[in-house]
Amino acid sequence: MSNKVRKAVIPVAGLGTRLLPVTKSVPKELLPIVDVPAIQVIVEECMASGIEEVIFITGRGKGAIEDHFDFSYELENILESRGKSKELEAVKKASNLIRTITVRQKKPLGLGHAILQAKDVIGDEPFLVVLPDDIISADPPCAKQLIDVYDKYGEGVVSILQVADDEVSRYGIIDGETWEDDLVRVRVMVEKPAPAESPSNLAIIGRYILPPEIFTYLEETEVGAGGEIQLTDALQRLARERALIGYKFTGRRHDTGDRFGYLTANIDAALRRPDLSKKLWTYIKSLDENDFK
Ligand code: UTP
Repeated sequence: MSNKVRKAVIPVAGLGTRLLPVTKSVPKELLPIVDVPAIQVIVEECMASGIEEVIFITGRGKGAIEDHFDFSYELENILESRGKSKELEAVKKASNLIRTITVRQKKPLGLGHAILQAKDVIGDEPFLVVLPDDIISADPPCAKQLIDVYDKYGEGVVSILQVADDEVSRYGIIDGETWEDDLVRVRVMVEKPAPAESPSNLAIIGRYILPPEIFTYLEETEVGAGGEIQLTDALQRLARERALIGYKFTGRRHDTGDRFGYLTANIDAALRRPDLSKKLWTYIKSLDENDFK
């Protein structure tokens, strides 16, 4: 068994109902962050974190995600013959990124069920899970920060973030003992609690390092609300029977599965781009709230 985190599972089989109507025909993972599909930003984070292979868990209507990371001979030939070298480079970048494997989740039976589909491809080694809705700008990348915690302690790690009281009901919330500034030993986990019942304000965000035992726990997890297999139930068991570390990562996180988070992710990304930053700042500073009433 390898103890090195080499593989990443990226579930992309969700329906993306929060972003309807665009997600009726376009997978939300392909919506652009400026001009790069969100899923490419995520795959680049995996690569910058030392990941060697990415496993997409896909569902109906998500075939275009695979295509994005595949060679497009026709397009590449056309760009080459027209001398469009910059565009050609951008197109080739996606297909040259990393080895990808696709596993189909035949029914959207929840995040836990989606991850379980990767069992045979992962085998007996720890792995990274990245939820592509969470775009995080950080140096080192958030996934790398988690891998470093795993390498030090050898136990499962979840990324956590302090959220406002009125936001706890959107997340899995943890509680436990703090034993270093940014590390919590997880004892309790509650999925989407009402604010009055929430054990803390520490929310689980979309980056996890999981040991292979999680597959057994997922297989033994009872189907919950809505016929779904919840990852939180299996994580709770991992915390109880082995250990689970909550890690307060550093970085700016945007929930791109939500309209506002999608907008802020784009603004932040554009403000970091040398070709756009100055113009966008000038535009933002010129805005007057009254013009939009
Ligand atoms: P979400 O709970 O955000 O659901 O899934 P969603 O369908 O993507 O979006 P909304 O809430 O309807 O707008 C969290 C992650 O789990 C994946 C999603 O693709 C997303 O990355 N997922 C969820 C699956 O792969 N399969 C499922 O059955 C459910």
